[in-house]
Amino acid sequence: MPERMSHNRLQQKSALITGGASGIGQAIAERFAAEGARVLLADVNLEGAEAVAAGIRDNGGVAQARACDVADADQVAALFASFAETFGPVDILVNSAAIPQVRPILKMAVADWQRVLDINLTGSFLCAQQAAQAMIAAGAQGRIIQLSSVNGQRAISGRGAYSVAKGGLNMLVKIMAAELGEHGITVNAVAPGPVDTNMVLKMHNQETRDAWKAHLPIKRYAKPEEVAAAALFLAGDESAYISGHTINVDGGFDAAGMLFDLGDLG
Ligand SMILES: NC(=O)c1ccc[n+]([C@@H]2O[C@H](COP(=O)([O-])OP(=O)(O)OC[C@H]3O[C@@H](n4cnc5c(N)ncnc54)[C@H](O)[C@@H]3O)[C@@H](O)[C@H]2O)c1
Repeated sequence: MPERMSHNRLQQKSALITGGASGIGQAIAERFAAEGARVLLADVNLEGAEAVAAGIRDNGGVAQARACDVADADQVAALFASFAETFGPVDILVNSAAIPQVRPILKMAVADWQRVLDINLTGSFLCAQQAAQAMIAAGAQGRIIQLSSVNGQRAISGRGAYSVAKGGLNMLVKIMAAELGEHGITVNAVAPGPVDTNMVLKMHNQETRDAWKAHLPIKRYAKPEEVAAAALFLAGDESAYISGHTINVDGGFDAAGMLFDLGDLG
């Protein structure tokens, strides 16, 4: 393990990570565990979450997995009760659970729209609300981290409901930061650009990949570990006075306007 990976920055902390069976949630669970946190992975894909937890335990970490559909309020309440029984008070919540969808607005059935909003926005609200209540009850200096996206800031073809959910999430981060600051809880989001995960395999064809690369100053997709590094910063002691922000991990996408070859002037 490289030296920078072994600072134990989350020693004595307990973290709940939704969507921990795959992609960014998995990378965050693995990084947090490597930094000393006890992690509980919650996912609709219990088998996948169990496999990630087993891998963490094999590397000397402390990890458990639970089945949970974050869009179901009863399941979310049961998840937090189970977390408390297993690890005690929750110090850190990371909401990575979400579903992809590519659907133009003109062809969007209300059920398609609703499903994305239910999981990607309401699910994140339900988990964050439960976490905040548990943190306040325990007097914990808690950290809530939402996985947003550049889709919540800029319009990208076919991402209607997905983008609206992420835009809503950015505002949820602000309102929760405003309401929870007095309890010592910070609430922030990480907004990745394209990251090579299972979600992207479903959403991006070759044309999408070429379009992304043309718009990215750093001409590649991110690795999940690069998003996990930003989540670690927001979960640790060094970010104690940062709240209500969305940090982009986007290869410069949000900053860039038109990118073109300057020819002889370059
Ligand atoms: N991959 C990207 O390019 C990218 C870019 C920007 C933002 N994001 C965001 O990062 C987060 C993680 O994405 P990823 O790329 O790792 O995706 P992923 O598909 O690899 O992982 C998402 C996980 O969420 C789980 N999940 C889905 N619905 C759920 C539900 N109802 N309840 C509980 N778990 C559920 C899935 O089973 C899966 O394990 C998401 O919020 C996504 O919107 C991803």
